Amino acid sequence: MITLGVESSCDETGLALYCSSQGLLAHTLFSQVDLHALYGGVVPELASRDHVKRLVPLTREVCDKAGITLSQISNVAYTRGPGLAGALLTGAMMARSLAWSLDVQALGVHHLEGHLLAPMLEEQPPAFPLVCLLVSGGHTQLIEVRGLGDYTLMGETIDDAAGEAFDKTAKMMGLGYPGGAALSALAQSGDAKAVSLPRPMLNRPNLDFSFSGLKTAAITRWKAFSGTEAERQIFMADLAASFELAVVDVLMGKSVKALEQSGLSTLVISGGVSANRTLRAAADAMQRNEKLTAFYPRLEFCTDNGAMIALAGSRRFMRGEADELAVNVRPRWPLEELTSNSKLRSDYQ
Ligand code: KG4
Ligand code: ZN
Repeated sequence: MITLGVESSCDETGLALYCSSQGLLAHTLFSQVDLHALYGGVVPELASRDHVKRLVPLTREVCDKAGITLSQISNVAYTRGPGLAGALLTGAMMARSLAWSLDVQALGVHHLEGHLLAPMLEEQPPAFPLVCLLVSGGHTQLIEVRGLGDYTLMGETIDDAAGEAFDKTAKMMGLGYPGGAALSALAQSGDAKAVSLPRPMLNRPNLDFSFSGLKTAAITRWKAFSGTEAERQIFMADLAASFELAVVDVLMGKSVKALEQSGLSTLVISGGVSANRTLRAAADAMQRNEKLTAFYPRLEFCTDNGAMIALAGSRRFMRGEADELAVNVRPRWPLEELTSNSKLRSDYQ
């Protein structure tokens, strides 16, 4: 069974072909980062318009890459939500129409389920049950995953998402948008112990996060700096490294706590921030010290992509799921809604 996956929830147009027996056949991606960088953030209308331009050429390209024709596609999965309404609609309409014209089934899948399953695109995939640390530009959550569609929210951010905190701090330092990766690159030449920053909520017993205060602390330190241009360059790298380590300390500290509380030993880290080098190194160190196992996607599948949507769709098609002809996108869509017998979040508080 070959599933075409279509991702268009924000500023990346991703197409992929996933075969239920052979795994990922091919994927293509167009990132709109340069388009939005000019405005310092994603402009929803521009995002939708650009998706419209890219979807069909990228579909052709992914088929060429995989060496298949459209007629060999068994079904089509697309991102139903969460995301930008207009951007979601472009992918949903294209996917649903293509499925209709090919007389195959279509299915709208959850973007975060895609992220959560992304490490399963690798040769040595994690097995359920597991704890997932989902860290992206819009979400920071710890989820107990018992199986496909069996999700219990263990904790989440009460204010900024980790990626959002990275982006806002980077923007303030003049590193552009989205600046998470740039801040992380700069951090490599800095001293992570140079600037003392808080580890918000780390010592609280619950599994919630808060990054807004940490971001403000970094901005305050930045604004208070006075020195020569050469000193400023050094301070910038030190601040980036110190900020990055503070975020990673909190993310890993809470993840280990979540594993202890759930009695599970497998941690999956996914979403855009899972591309962070220091976070990946901390996960590797955790494996060595704690007899726990950590998985994260290859770099290109940390941020938004079509491969994770094709995989999530494939798993759900295998269970016999499919949509009617109507297209419904869900710009806001809590992941726990996918769980039929959702456990109370308060189980973990
Ligand atoms: O998953 P994603 O592509 O989009 C959402 O669904 O939000 O995540 C994008 C986020 C952005 O905030 C970006 O700055 C962050 O992931 N990010 C990083 C790194 N690469 C991407 N944050 C820290 N370090 C990185 N290397
Ligand atoms: Zn995402």
